[in-house]
Amino acid sequence: MCGIVAFRGLEPALPALLDGLAKMEYRGYDSVGIALNPGDGRTLAVHRTSGRIPALTALIPPGERSTTGVGHTRWATHGAPTAVNAHPHVDCSGSVAVVHNGTLDNVSELQAELVAAGHVLTTEVDTEVIAHLVEQFLPHPPFLAGGVAAPSADDVARAVEQATARLRGSWALGVTVRGLDAVVLTRHRSPLLVGEAERFAMASSDLLGFAVGTHTVRELDDGDVVVLGSEQAWYHRGQALATPRAGRPAAPVEPLADMGDAEDFTAREIDDQPAAAARLVDSLSERLAGGLLLRELGVPARTRLRLVACGSSSYAAHVTAAVLGSVARIPAHVVVASEPPPPVEDPDVLTVAFSQSGETADVLTALEHWTDPVLAVTNNPRSTLARRADSVLDLACGPERGVAATKSFTNQVLAGAALAVALAAALGRLSTEDVAGFEAQLRAAPEHMAATHRLAAPPADRLARDLADEPAFIYVSRGAGVPYALEGALKLKELAYRWVEALPAGELKHGPLALIQEGTPVIAVQARPHDRLAVNAREMTTRGARLITVGPGEDADLPVKAPAVEPPWGPLESVVALQHFARGLTRLLGYDVDRPRNLAKSVTVE
Ligand code: F6R
Repeated sequence: MCGIVAFRGLEPALPALLDGLAKMEYRGYDSVGIALNPGDGRTLAVHRTSGRIPALTALIPPGERSTTGVGHTRWATHGAPTAVNAHPHVDCSGSVAVVHNGTLDNVSELQAELVAAGHVLTTEVDTEVIAHLVEQFLPHPPFLAGGVAAPSADDVARAVEQATARLRGSWALGVTVRGLDAVVLTRHRSPLLVGEAERFAMASSDLLGFAVGTHTVRELDDGDVVVLGSEQAWYHRGQALATPRAGRPAAPVEPLADMGDAEDFTAREIDDQPAAAARLVDSLSERLAGGLLLRELGVPARTRLRLVACGSSSYAAHVTAAVLGSVARIPAHVVVASEPPPPVEDPDVLTVAFSQSGETADVLTALEHWTDPVLAVTNNPRSTLARRADSVLDLACGPERGVAATKSFTNQVLAGAALAVALAAALGRLSTEDVAGFEAQLRAAPEHMAATHRLAAPPADRLARDLADEPAFIYVSRGAGVPYALEGALKLKELAYRWVEALPAGELKHGPLALIQEGTPVIAVQARPHDRLAVNAREMTTRGARLITVGPGEDADLPVKAPAVEPPWGPLESVVALQHFARGLTRLLGYDVDRPRNLAKSVTVE
């Protein structure tokens, strides 16, 4: 995983690097580091910490004015998240600094080889071998005192090419070498973009990382080697530097959304949910009839769908599959992207990839299995997924900075439902009146979410206080409510670090009922018809469970405002109440709501 940034300019690199790292933190925040290169032969300044960006900033002496540097924010794969294991990694002499996003498969072999050749490795991290390999392939050691010539950009580019020829796995690399005022970049199966501005050139794992003023951005292809000069990125083509390829105009780089009056980003994003839903529904609902939405998206009206996603996005995909079945009579199956089934060619299938970030490696890799058209449902229309897909349905949530999915989940559900209705209409399976009915239900959803937001917050906080000492929970529902029980449970696991069993209530009696003892909290998400869940609830309370209901009734423990007729996507508003409960418990326990341990917002490794 991880995010990398690199800068070479006519002005100090530090502000742009720190700002880029802050915006890249969603890719991992186990540790952070930076290497600044004065470019004139003086030593590289490498600073690393297992803390966050303020801790890194505190390490950097005032007056730092190097115009070249690389930065890295880490989600640990090889090696614990310590300062020693943080990037940038350096060679024996500290003259080659490398930042890396990706993972190496042949690291043990390379470590053994380097150690045998006399290199001293000091960390547990795969990236360290890259710094030593680059050092090995440089034509002369740039770090020796006494007038040894500084390496040229060609020297470093060639050393990087030779070093990467030895690697197996995935990498996006930024390499800076003492004595050369430049950064050399390359990639293989990990995203990397270069951007240019009037007074600097930058590289970043993601568009977000670029500084204000970046006017042109290029996406590197696997094997490209690029040298960042002061205002331009030069492509290295085996022998020499070549002029840049044509780039795309960069989207205006906007300041990061702040949290306003909210206490954390998660609170702000829960609060923003109804407005984000209303924006999406407004933009989609008028285009449902007659296949207009599909034509605009360029989506073929296929008769079978494969829905690919991970985590929360996969629960939204499950809701979509159910709506496709009930409204459109279109068979759809959900593929957990990290476990794609063996490829089966099927010309009637449309693949729909749900991904908030559009950067989830499991999703991108799963798509390599099939050749059918891909529709990306994503909150990032300029992401790797969006570039890979044939068409894009933009979730338009605005940035989601809390690690836990909130407004992106609810918008994915509504986007999936709209897609199902549009497909059913295009295939002639719904009358005009039916489509109008679904459109009205979609339009009503934001208001039910807003009312639930107001209604559920105080009881959710009370419940959190009441259940603060409970180590484990069970979340259940039936029918259309099951994906929301799973999603609510995931919020509690990832934010409050509680063990949660989440399943269809009818499955309890097939084994998990044995977990229930006196007082075990069972959160039951009501979906219509309610009586099916009521039967299972009695089975649990008879055995001592403490039942906590989430539903529209006055006596519900977590009350929601539900529509009079349940839409085919089920009790979407229940998830708002469950988000409040998970956030309330997390804060009570003193954990970081926005940055839960061990996680990252975007999971860019398989
Ligand atoms: C949980 C959560 C994750 C993501 C998953 C997929 O709150 O956010 O489970 O849903 O990592 O991420 P995207 O949607 O970016 O592909």
